[in-house]
Amino acid sequence: MNDPNGMVYFNGKYHLFFQHNPNSSVWGPMHWGHAISTDLVHWKELPIALYPDALGTIFSGSAVIDKENTAGFGENAMIAIYTNHSHELEKEGFEKIETQGIAYSLDEGTTWTKYKGNPVIANPGIRDFRDPKVFWYQPGNKWIMSLATKDRITFYSSPDLKNWMKESEFGENSGAHGGVWECPDLFPLSYGDETVWVLIVNINPGGPNGGSGTQYFTGSFDGHEFVSNDTLTKWIDYGPDNYAGITWSNTGDRKLFIGWMSNWSYANIVPTTQWRSTNTIVRELDLIKSNNRFFVRSVPVKETDALILKSFSEKNLFTKNASITKKTNKLTGPASLQLTLNNPDDFHITLFNTKDEKLIVGYNKTGNHFYIDRSLSGDTQFSDHFKKKIIASRIASEKNMNLSLLIDETSIEVFADNGLSLMSAIFFPSVPYSDLTISSEKKLRIKDLTLDHLERIWK
Ligand code: FRU
Repeated sequence: MNDPNGMVYFNGKYHLFFQHNPNSSVWGPMHWGHAISTDLVHWKELPIALYPDALGTIFSGSAVIDKENTAGFGENAMIAIYTNHSHELEKEGFEKIETQGIAYSLDEGTTWTKYKGNPVIANPGIRDFRDPKVFWYQPGNKWIMSLATKDRITFYSSPDLKNWMKESEFGENSGAHGGVWECPDLFPLSYGDETVWVLIVNINPGGPNGGSGTQYFTGSFDGHEFVSNDTLTKWIDYGPDNYAGITWSNTGDRKLFIGWMSNWSYANIVPTTQWRSTNTIVRELDLIKSNNRFFVRSVPVKETDALILKSFSEKNLFTKNASITKKTNKLTGPASLQLTLNNPDDFHITLFNTKDEKLIVGYNKTGNHFYIDRSLSGDTQFSDHFKKKIIASRIASEKNMNLSLLIDETSIEVFADNGLSLMSAIFFPSVPYSDLTISSEKKLRIKDLTLDHLERIWK
């Protein structure tokens, strides 16, 4: 699997579709796989939702609930808007290989009917022309689509999801341009009484730590045009393994995000077979202002707390070397470590196993950055990129710091400063890490430390 697709909430269920090749563990003819959840942490996989058709395989896209029946497929129809990619035309050397299509479901995403009038947006002569993300723009009484068009985002509008009109383009001279722009998402977030529009733009390659990455812009949107209010290139996650992430439709004021935990620089050659790729934990987004700039924060959804089996807490530690798992039990499954630190100097957290394989997560005060070192994490030989140190700037300027680490057997998600600086990374130890220590050269003041042992989602 790769990108999450068509995430939509409906009748008490969160739907998660995803880029899926059912025939192989490397990327190939894309289908939309399907999973549902009632709590955002436990997922049930359902049969494949969308199969390739005469127009091509099914690339990334979104889904909406058509409450007003604007498309005429039925009230509350679930409508998927996706890219058809024609491998046949591609083989023959054509450029116009990607078009946008729609399909609808009247039974909560179980069975789907493709619209006979597809494509709803033909290709204007742009090879990379994909990943439509659609939402209802109430003030203009119309649907808005953000579409990745080579190295910028093109916005379209429609009264009925079938007829689309080009509104504007964004990005020629903004943001990172080290690769193709993919998987956009435009949505408003509140900051006090202010409404700020956020435009997520995935990019590959050209991410902050090489390969795939997710940048975002903050600004305004008037139903026609997005205008950025910042020149800084900002990233949802600095880690190498959070790609193609977008948000759920139909969740009201809650903005829920999920990303694919891999990187196109090695996704097809990681040392796994049947189980290749996972998603991040679902994250809730909000906005914060820091040094007069808007930033998006991401934190694990509060539903994740329901996974806690056992907690160990300590307060006011003053230490150079704390072996956490000597005090608690060794790690035997997923875990979450939360730290509140008083004005820390350099420190690092080491996760290790009995084979001397280790993953190091740290903070470097001089560089004012967080890092992950996975050079000794286990199997790394499949990619030079994979061995490189991962760096995330610290954005917060407060002296005190908090860190939250979501640790699984082959992944870590690091949330610093309440979700301002993030790093998601995967790794492949020969046996799971069982121990955890915190070390520093100067004594570290840990105000609060909590280690939670978590339930496994998959039995
Ligand atoms: C991003 C992406 C999308 C495309 C899909 C194909 O990872 O390249 O742009 O729709 O994957 O699987």
